[in-house]
Amino acid sequence: MTEIKAVPQTSADPDVTSGVAQFLGPVVTDLTALSVDGKQAHWHVRGANFQAVHELLDVIVDHARDYADTAAERVVALGLPIDARIQTVGAKTSTTKMTAGFQQSDAVIGEVIAAIDATLVTVRTAVTELAELDPVSQDVAIEIARALEKDRWFLFAHVATK
Ligand SMILES: [Fe+2]
Repeated sequence: MTEIKAVPQTSADPDVTSGVAQFLGPVVTDLTALSVDGKQAHWHVRGANFQAVHELLDVIVDHARDYADTAAERVVALGLPIDARIQTVGAKTSTTKMTAGFQQSDAVIGEVIAAIDATLVTVRTAVTELAELDPVSQDVAIEIARALEKDRWFLFAHVATK
């Protein structure tokens, strides 16, 4: 029987894998924070467009969890760990603190859009920095940027005046 040597990671250059972790790690952090605060917004939105905003926020939360999973698994596939423990996410996220308690939909939407925008800064940095380092990982960041921008549009459309 042929013995299969178990190697936990691909043959990728260690400098490449550490660079991918350096730039996709913060993406995982921000998306995880967005998913938690998105639920907070989902529970506390009040006022005009309640039903639509309440339901859309759940879709955005699901997307954020999915994108975090995609980014995290790209790093893990290359053999490095991710630190998405809640204390780490809380300490390192670039998203801003949400207001506690019930809020009118315009205010909730503004805060979630701010969280999306902060996450997009992190994602776009990953897109730029991973271009030469690892185009496969850059593709992950590009996919996330495209999807986040669409979610931002859906949310913004509820408060846009034209
Ligand atoms: Fe719910």
